[in-house]
Amino acid sequence: MKRKIMLVAGARPNFMKIAPVHGALAAAGHDVVLVHTGQHYDAEMSRLFFDELGIPEPDINLEVGSASHAVQTAEIMKRFEPVLLQHRPDMVMVVGDVNSTAGCSLVTKKLDGVALAHVEAGLRSFDRTMPEEINRVVTDALSDLLFTTERSGDENLIAEGIPRERVRFVGNVMIDTLLSHLERARGLDAPSRHGLAPGGYALVTLHRPSNVDDAQVLATIMDAIAELAERLPVLFPVHPRTRVSLERWEGERGGAPEGLRFAPPLGYLEFVHLMSEARLMLTDSGGIQEETTVLGVPCLTLRENTERPVTIEQGTNVLVGRDPMKIRSEAEAILKGRRTAARVPEGWDGRAAERIADEIASWDFTPR
Ligand code: UD1
Repeated sequence: MKRKIMLVAGARPNFMKIAPVHGALAAAGHDVVLVHTGQHYDAEMSRLFFDELGIPEPDINLEVGSASHAVQTAEIMKRFEPVLLQHRPDMVMVVGDVNSTAGCSLVTKKLDGVALAHVEAGLRSFDRTMPEEINRVVTDALSDLLFTTERSGDENLIAEGIPRERVRFVGNVMIDTLLSHLERARGLDAPSRHGLAPGGYALVTLHRPSNVDDAQVLATIMDAIAELAERLPVLFPVHPRTRVSLERWEGERGGAPEGLRFAPPLGYLEFVHLMSEARLMLTDSGGIQEETTVLGVPCLTLRENTERPVTIEQGTNVLVGRDPMKIRSEAEAILKGRRTAARVPEGWDGRAAERIADEIASWDFTPR
């Protein structure tokens, strides 16, 4: 039976997740209503991704913009409720762990008869100082249908008392997008456009509040990265959140070292190409831990924990926290040629969104 499904996205990492889901649901004949909350709004954080990934123009843009967590989440809720009342979908589908995910989930479950599905359910860092962890716990507690990307997600949900029949392991939609765009990305010549040789540079991204909001904390990490830049070129596309603390670090040391180059946030294809040819990746992103695992690129994650343990157990990911010594020694080991025997996790095969559409087809929509 064809259903009306409202698909929600708000921030950059959501866009590569909704692209294949939108495609698979539309191909199955559902009426898909796309809502962009406007949490991310800069052209380079939003528009570019819709264009490159061929995501249709959102039917509704809530234009919430930036604010504190409470204000941003409240704005999302206030503006989403009338949209939901007007459209009355059979189901709202949210992805990932951003404020838009949690805000729209709350609104949905307070409206009788609308089902809630969460794509990328069950991931847990067990670190409640992370805003994303709060969003994950809230969204999963409310969802009727929970699509997981790795088996640890199923286990976490069951341990939290989520009925097993709500949980569906489908694999990773972010990898659907990676695999379907990899060839196009590789045609871009991105490394040479940045003056870099394939396999001869490190790529860095940092945007977690715990790493970048405090200029002192960021400075410690940046000093280690500056040291690495003496060994091989480092390219760092800078998230808007990171700019202020980074400028302070640069100002205090009188500029960045020669080997370290900054760039504005990059488009998806350009970034994927750069990532696929990097000697190593340093990041605090969630999605990049997954993408480097599939690409077989060594990844040093500048966090104390990860909600994506499969990237460590099976993939190329190593946690280095923000300890300069650890960053140095792990980077050194990679540069000396240490290889990790990585394999691609189960269900990270480019067909996760299809499996989601199959699950929706057989799911009982009776209100619960
Ligand atoms: C959000 C997500 C995070 C995700 C990240 C990816 C939450 C709690 N966090 O964090 O999980 O990994 O997106 O980017 O939802 N800004 C701009 N232009 C924009 C968007 C943001 O300049 O288009 C700046 C604003 O100054 C804003 C700051 O970035 O205050 C933070 O944006 P926000 O959406 O609140 O959180 P992110 O740090 O981007």
